[in-house]
Amino acid sequence: MSAIAPVTVEVGLGERAYDILIGPGLLSGAGQEISRRLPGRRAAVVTDENVAAAQLGTLKAGLETSGIQPAVITLPAGEKTKSFAHLEEVVDGVLAAKLERGDIVIALGGGVIGDLAGFAAGIVRRGMNFVQIPTSLLAQVDSSVGGKTGINSPRGKNLVGVFHQPKLVLADTGVLDTLPIREFRAGYAELAKYGLIDRPAFFAWLEANWQDVFAGGPARAEAIAEACRAKADVVARDEFETGDRALLNLGHTFGHALEAATHYDGARLVHGEGVAIGMALAHRFSARLNLASPDDAGRVEAHLRAVGLPWRMADIPGELPDAEALLTYIAQDKKVSRGALTFILTRGVGQAFIARDVPASEVLGFLAENHPG
Ligand SMILES: NC(=O)c1ccc[n+]([C@@H]2O[C@H](COP(=O)([O-])OP(=O)(O)OC[C@H]3O[C@@H](n4cnc5c(N)ncnc54)[C@H](O)[C@@H]3O)[C@@H](O)[C@H]2O)c1
Repeated sequence: MSAIAPVTVEVGLGERAYDILIGPGLLSGAGQEISRRLPGRRAAVVTDENVAAAQLGTLKAGLETSGIQPAVITLPAGEKTKSFAHLEEVVDGVLAAKLERGDIVIALGGGVIGDLAGFAAGIVRRGMNFVQIPTSLLAQVDSSVGGKTGINSPRGKNLVGVFHQPKLVLADTGVLDTLPIREFRAGYAELAKYGLIDRPAFFAWLEANWQDVFAGGPARAEAIAEACRAKADVVARDEFETGDRALLNLGHTFGHALEAATHYDGARLVHGEGVAIGMALAHRFSARLNLASPDDAGRVEAHLRAVGLPWRMADIPGELPDAEALLTYIAQDKKVSRGALTFILTRGVGQAFIARDVPASEVLGFLAENHPG
């Protein structure tokens, strides 16, 4: 393991509590860490083709040194992998390897692999041990923490899944060096989200230090640790999203609609980019409703633009469906409660709140005004 000590953030969930370790060089020591915490277990590693090429060798070598010969299940990369067909493949791979309930499913990959492998771990033998080794920035700051797992249905994103907390999260900040820059930026949107929700000082720090976060080194690890602290806080307060946890959906109602409207085509829009545009729209929409100053919306847009993220619908290549069709996608999203639209809106940077009963006519007018067509 690296000489630099990792930061540990605890997710305080009583008997389901677990640690997130954050720092460079954790991947090579993962076998040792896992066998120390979960001794004598067998393991299956679920990963995708890109991550397998870049990072699997290091993990496997460390596991084997610690006496774990893992079964490896390698899937195609991309959002379309979060499907029933690939869930079946993972379940079958774990059962074919004759793993027991106390054995371990390890997710080595981004949010797609983490969500899918976590779901499989949650249902095979009624719940196996699960370890997250997130390899994308998005997964390190968001999806690997908190126990939400699942797949997409043809009817929408993340509609099928379970809550299943991992036993351990190992966020090796060095593995992000092989992540394509576009994906790093997309993950950065989720990182900035924590500042915009309720940590205005963190957002201001990111405005000043984002280049160091992109470059790597201590600023990157510090930013990821801060994001994990923010996420761990919310999850500990509201594990099953009956209240506050919904704040983490800032930007996601618009973002999911744009992902659906572009048919989950990663060439046009990846998840984090949808969130970036969604966060900018949430701030602009809040200003339109006279809840926040337009200056705050301008500040958010300027930062997203500075880091090279898309921030308006016009930044998505190709044509978009019209405002009415976009509203239909929004209404299909799961954050609709008994017909009323629920949005995460804001009173300014770091002051997000849950708004229920947002009138559809306001949303439609706003979408029409901001539509590029
Ligand atoms: N469970 C949750 O709480 C939660 C939260 C946020 C997002 N999500 C989900 O996360 C998914 C998006 O995650 P993502 O952005 O990580 O997408 P992803 O898993 O598709 O990873 C992005 C791309 O980067 C590649 N990649 C990942 N790590 C790499 C590395 N170190 N080197 C080289 N290539 C690497 C992958 O192969 C993929 O092509 C969405 O499905 C979203 O719904 C879940």
